[in-house]
Amino acid sequence: MKKKKWLVIIMAGLLMLSGCGSVTDQPVKSIKIGISVYDQYDTFVAQMMSAFNSYATKKQELTGITINVEIYNASGSQSTQNEQVESMIKEGYNVICINLVDRTDPTTIIDMAEKNNVPVIFFNRELVEEDLGRWDKLYYVGAEAFESGIMEGELAAEAFEEREQLDKNKDGIFQYIVLEGEVGHQDSIVRTEYSVNTIIQKGVPVEKLGYAIANWNRAQAQTKMSQLWEEYGDKIELVLANNDDMALGAIDALKAQNIPQKDWPAVVGIDGTDVGLEAVRDGEMIGTVYNDKEGQAASMLELAYTLSTDGDVSSIALMENNTIRLPYIKVSAKEAKEFTPPGAAGY
Ligand code: BGC
Repeated sequence: MKKKKWLVIIMAGLLMLSGCGSVTDQPVKSIKIGISVYDQYDTFVAQMMSAFNSYATKKQELTGITINVEIYNASGSQSTQNEQVESMIKEGYNVICINLVDRTDPTTIIDMAEKNNVPVIFFNRELVEEDLGRWDKLYYVGAEAFESGIMEGELAAEAFEEREQLDKNKDGIFQYIVLEGEVGHQDSIVRTEYSVNTIIQKGVPVEKLGYAIANWNRAQAQTKMSQLWEEYGDKIELVLANNDDMALGAIDALKAQNIPQKDWPAVVGIDGTDVGLEAVRDGEMIGTVYNDKEGQAASMLELAYTLSTDGDVSSIALMENNTIRLPYIKVSAKEAKEFTPPGAAGY
């Protein structure tokens, strides 16, 4: 009889030590969210990360749960990013958020995460549907690339119709060049296609003079624009840039060549970064398309928080295939002065 009692006590002690039973019922006191970005110097990604950090601080205040956020820079190397994920898994991060370096190569990350049962939220650099569908704890937060292309095309077409001086040679055709983001990035391919098609659909005839790949980067865009300007000069009536940083790089090139602003082509971008919006307000760009970094950051935080605590994602407005996509907003020169980013509900 006595022996049995001791056995029960020992068994209960062992259960407590091994962390079974009562331990899982304890409320979560702290969580760890690990993030790896493809390039910490990318303007859009950097601004999205700073929004994420400030929302995490706010969420911590609201919930009383300590939220540890660590952001790693993959510096453009997929193998570095894979190693970062490996060490985050070893260090016991609850959720990992990945801004893929190579959006066609998420396999190593997915395999490691699934094996160790750590959910992954991909963001901004979209993996293909088949990869996203490989495990039910994979998510994507971003936007619908084609929407931004359509809005950029609308901005260009509206400007051509409203401002006669943009048709420099008076031939009724909008002669354009494109500054493209990285080859293979969903936003480069889709934005270019939809912006040009939209201008045409709006009834403005176009002629493509040239294009250059500037990898989302302002300095590269300046170099490429200088070369295109040397080749086509005043024939360029429109610069369609896949993002604001490249639009600003084109403007840097025009300024460096001392071209008076009245002779500049129309320059249009996407993102509505702080510097981009400022250039639209100053009349240097004809418009931009707001890429809702606050909304994306807040959605990613909510999802990461939920996955790290009770894991019940039914309260999250997930769209098809575990995705969350925030809408873009068109910001013309007229709207820019009044425009304030929508901000994130609840923060
Ligand atoms: C943004 C770019 C950014 C890129 C990085 C795009 O959605 O518009 O500014 O450089 O994402 O992946």
